[in-house]
Amino acid sequence: MGPRRVAVITGAASGIGRAAVELFTSRGCDVVAVDQSADAMRWAADRDHVVCVTGDVSAESTNAAAVEAALREWGRLDVAVLNAGTVGSPGLEDAGAIERFDEVLAVNLRSVVLGIRCAAPAIRDTGADGAIVATASTSGFGGDPGNWAYNASKAGVINLVRAAAIDYAVQGLRINAVAPGPTETGMTQGLKRMPELRRAMARRVPMQRWATATEIAEAMWFLASPAASFITGVTLAVDGGLSASAGHFDLPSNPNSRETEG
Ligand SMILES: NC(=O)c1ccc[n+]([C@@H]2O[C@H](COP(=O)([O-])OP(=O)(O)OC[C@H]3O[C@@H](n4cnc5c(N)ncnc54)[C@H](O)[C@@H]3O)[C@@H](O)[C@H]2O)c1
Repeated sequence: MGPRRVAVITGAASGIGRAAVELFTSRGCDVVAVDQSADAMRWAADRDHVVCVTGDVSAESTNAAAVEAALREWGRLDVAVLNAGTVGSPGLEDAGAIERFDEVLAVNLRSVVLGIRCAAPAIRDTGADGAIVATASTSGFGGDPGNWAYNASKAGVINLVRAAAIDYAVQGLRINAVAPGPTETGMTQGLKRMPELRRAMARRVPMQRWATATEIAEAMWFLASPAASFITGVTLAVDGGLSASAGHFDLPSNPNSRETEG
């Protein structure tokens, strides 16, 4: 057995990031859990093999502190899961729209640039099969009504991952993304008050349901692992077939599906 692999995981307090921390530690990784919310990260603070870093991922200092924590605690860095994100776009002509656009781009896209910039040298120095996994979205493949800033930020992640993968390929660092479809997390918690909308979203997914956070974390684990050793520059849809559909026709329904109830 080789040395324990070490991963930085951002957006770790909740949802997909939390599921990734749980999955990666259960499979023998040491993890630096990064989030803006110290309170929400309390669940992770007492866990073995986890150290927490609190800060805004759109600041270079937070990304640098996360890498420093990995090197200080365990002397190596193998993986960065750049997952923190924010959703919500005001009307494009509304007051404050540009401020919100800047914020969404900073949290969802600038953070991935900073994460790569800070993690890559440490992963290179570790010298093993290193990997970076960003969280894009099916909302990066196309547009949603009233979601223009988020759509733009996630499309940016998808093409950033392609370009960065090319630049880092010869350094032995693979860079990929996952694109979740609708997933049960803190981000989508508010939709619990809108069960009809939730069901309508599930009906657009060929598998007729939402994802669990762990299903997304499993795809992150795969892309970060040596099992994906010849995969770089891709965005892997983890969406029950949502992005496979052209959307022209109603999908066949499955009476036995686990469609999520509100
Ligand atoms: N839930 C979905 O349906 C869905 C679908 C596609 C993509 N995604 C993406 O998955 C990722 C994880 O989201 P989630 O669904 O688990 O949501 P979530 O709200 O449960 O978790 C996101 C975490 O990111 C943290 N965060 C937000 N802004 C931050 C910042 N500036 N600095 C540090 N931490 C910050 C939050 O505190 C939170 O703990 C996001 O990038 C999101 O866009 C989610």
